[in-house]
Amino acid sequence: MTEDLRALALAAVGSSRATEDPDYPRYHVAPPVGRLNDPNGLLVDAGTYHAFYQFSPFHPHRKLVYWGHASSRDLVTWHHHDPAIVPDSPYDRSGVYSGNALVLEDAEVDHAPASAPYQLFFTGNLKDPVTDERTSSQCLATSADLVEFTKWPGNPLLPGQPPGYTAHFRDPQVWRDPDEPGSFRMIIGVQRSDLTGAALLYRSTDLLSWELEGELTFPDAHGAFDAFGYMWECPGLVRLTDELTGQARDVLIWCPQGIAPGAEGYENIYPVTYTVGRLVGTELRECDGGFAEVDRGFEYYAPQAFARRPGEPGPVLLAGWAGNAEQDEHPSVDTGGWVHALTVPRELSLRGGRLIQRPALRADDGVDLAVGERDLDVEDGVVGLAELDGHRSWHLVLDVDHAEGRWGLVIGDESSSVTITLSSPQTHARSQGDPVEETLAPVLEVDRSRSRYTRHGTHRQVTLTPGTERRLEVLHDRSVTELVVGDGDTLFTFRSYVSPQATGAGLFTDGSLSLAGARAVLRD
Ligand code: FRU
Repeated sequence: MTEDLRALALAAVGSSRATEDPDYPRYHVAPPVGRLNDPNGLLVDAGTYHAFYQFSPFHPHRKLVYWGHASSRDLVTWHHHDPAIVPDSPYDRSGVYSGNALVLEDAEVDHAPASAPYQLFFTGNLKDPVTDERTSSQCLATSADLVEFTKWPGNPLLPGQPPGYTAHFRDPQVWRDPDEPGSFRMIIGVQRSDLTGAALLYRSTDLLSWELEGELTFPDAHGAFDAFGYMWECPGLVRLTDELTGQARDVLIWCPQGIAPGAEGYENIYPVTYTVGRLVGTELRECDGGFAEVDRGFEYYAPQAFARRPGEPGPVLLAGWAGNAEQDEHPSVDTGGWVHALTVPRELSLRGGRLIQRPALRADDGVDLAVGERDLDVEDGVVGLAELDGHRSWHLVLDVDHAEGRWGLVIGDESSSVTITLSSPQTHARSQGDPVEETLAPVLEVDRSRSRYTRHGTHRQVTLTPGTERRLEVLHDRSVTELVVGDGDTLFTFRSYVSPQATGAGLFTDGSLSLAGARAVLRD
């Protein structure tokens, strides 16, 4: 008898004890049971946000990957739904892997597969039980109501990779071609036969038959991406208008596996990078080969933009996985039977070619903190933010009026804590006796060496653009923390796992600090 994989997953979800776990986040999407990885099929529909995600309900006992599903009206309270796509077809028995969604306009639905407004693309992953040989195919599921999901009977749409590539061929992202009405494009991460990473572009008018256009190329990048890692996962393109130039740009956001860590940056097992250009056909033109990390934190991967129908326009929202591949041994597996979370969605913009990410949750309506009204100096030690006492999920925004030396925030207590420190730019003699002074750029430092999760990095330093260190936003949610420095200039996502008994946060300086404002929204 074949197993009823849906029933097994529902039983696992039914046994969930995650919400009793003091580490289980309140406003971040986390799985009810088992493991979550990449966000999938993110979409906005009539003001409701839907987040699907890679979901392994039986983790760590069995690696069977479904699409989990949660939705929210306000991006704060998330409701869990039954798993949307189950790995029970011959082409996806080893996992319904990552992909995205397309939300169709009413006028498009009649001609769409299954006449359905929601089209979900995914990779069917199959490993031969005997040889372990991998087959990757690109597949479709449709839904009329985001309650029932049906795999397309003609799956797979793309049964395998084209010649010249290995079976590492996955993570389709489909979008409407803004330059060619009625045409849809798909980008897929792939590994070339010479074991370098790339992305392939396909085109379709009916969402079913997809024609290979070719590899995404970078004609102005001086070869920067010709041999850039051994596999590209989760590539996605978003079109943004640069705030400085008013020009429309296409931003490629992707996960090149196997690029070397820098002196600073690219320190995670796999990084997430972006580069900016203008997509014409299969060429990302005017991309000079420069790239940067999307998030500098210890845990961040596989981000994806929310799909919208053109008739419901809004900002480009991006959410990522607050986790990393192969790093699943978190305290929460024992305490609550779950692991990993998604980030809060972020609104994307471009400023002079730099990606700016502002949390879609705002703290504008937060309570003003008393500490904003006074100055802090070395003598004060750590000053508790009284309004946060008793709370373990909050969103804090600190605006600096004047700072000398280093200042920062401690979250947690003596038993386990994390420390976030910002330094002001410092001017000093270049060397002893040298009359020429140089200014050191400001720095963000995160120290989680005294937290309950120290396996994969305890200290990290990020050099900041001068001026951005004057604003720190902290989205802290029990065991997951996101830092936003400046007005969305630098993002830093990490698992914080401070003491479950500790509430609030403390502010300190080793010089002097005067705040122009301190505001918080309590989210528990
Ligand atoms: C990225 C990834 C994807 C794949 C999925 C499998 O984290 O490896 O390439 O589709 O996760 O869960």
